[in-house]
Amino acid sequence: MHVILLGTAAGGAFPQWNCWCPTCRVARTNPALAHPRSQSSIAVSSDGTRWFLVNASPDVREQLARLPTPTPTPTPNPTPLGRAKGGSVRHVPFEAVLLTDAELDHSLGVVLLREAGTISLYATDAVARVLEHDSHVLPTARAFATVTVAPLPMDEVVPLRDRHAAESALTVEAFAIRGDPPRFARHDEPGHTVGLLIRDKAAGTTLVYVPGCAALDAPVLEHLRRADGVLFDGTFWTDDELSTLGISALSARQMGHLPISGPGGSLEALAKLPARVRVRIYTHINNSNPILIEDSAARMTVEAAGVRVGDDGMAFTL
Ligand code: MLT
Ligand code: MN
Ligand code: ZN
Repeated sequence: MHVILLGTAAGGAFPQWNCWCPTCRVARTNPALAHPRSQSSIAVSSDGTRWFLVNASPDVREQLARLPTPTPTPTPNPTPLGRAKGGSVRHVPFEAVLLTDAELDHSLGVVLLREAGTISLYATDAVARVLEHDSHVLPTARAFATVTVAPLPMDEVVPLRDRHAAESALTVEAFAIRGDPPRFARHDEPGHTVGLLIRDKAAGTTLVYVPGCAALDAPVLEHLRRADGVLFDGTFWTDDELSTLGISALSARQMGHLPISGPGGSLEALAKLPARVRVRIYTHINNSNPILIEDSAARMTVEAAGVRVGDDGMAFTL
C-alpha cells in the first residue's frame, strides 16, 4: 500500500494567516526550521495508479499535484466542446474520497472538487447527514457534480471501488472515536468522527488513520496495535497549549484532541505499540505545536519515542 501525506497541518494550516504565535513566526522567517504545511489529508493506493483521498481539505487543489498519476495523453484535435476523438481533455486523478468526519478542514475540499463531474465519497451516515443538512457541502457540490455517498457502516469492511466501479485491492473499516461533532452540527450522533482502518488485500498490510481523537480507549488502541502503520492526531503538544498562548480558553481535550505529551498523552501510548507497527507518524498538527520546530525539545522527545512528525509530501509503502 502506497501512502502519501498530502497535508499534515490542522485546520488553518501552517503558518495560519492570522497567527503570530512563536511557531507561526518561525515558519514565516525561517521556513527551513519550521516547514509550512497544508491542511491534513492523505492519498492511498494499492497499485500506485488508482489513488483514494482520505479527507478533502481546503488545500486539495495544490495537494493533488503531488499524486504521481500519469499525465493524460495529449488530444491533438479537440473539438470546440473540449472533447477529442479517443479521449478527453479532462482527467480526474483520484477514484474517491473517504471521510473521517465532517469538519471543515476535512470536507470543504469536496466543494472545491466540483469540476470533477462525478465525485464518489465514502462516509458514515452521521457524517453524511452533517454534510447534507448542517454544512451544506453536499447540496452545494451537487449543484455542479454528481455526488454519490457510499455508506461506511461502523466496524464493517467495505471494498473501495474505482471510478469505473471496479474493486481495488483496498478495503476500509470505520471505527468509533471519542470526541465532539463539528460545532455547526445540530445533532451528536454516533459515527460523527471515526478512525479508518485501510487494508491492502494484495500486500496484506493495514494503515490506521486517526487525524482527530479526544481519548484513546481500549478498542481504538486495539486497532492501532494490529496496524502496520499509524497516522495519529498530533494537534497539540500540551492540554493548555492555546490558553497559555492566549489564543483560546479551551483545553486540547475540550477541543476533541488528546495532547501528545505528559501522562495519559498520545506519545506514551504510541511508544508502547508493538514492534509490528513500523510506521508511526503524527499529523493534523496545529500551528501552535512546538513539534513543528525541527530542533525543538518537543520534536526530540517525539522522535526519541520512535514517532515521526508528519510533513507534507512524506510518503511510505506498507
Ligand atoms: C478540529 O480539528 O478540531 C476542527 O477541525 C476545528 C477547526 O478546524 O475549526
Ligand atoms: Mn481539524
Ligand atoms: Zn500560530
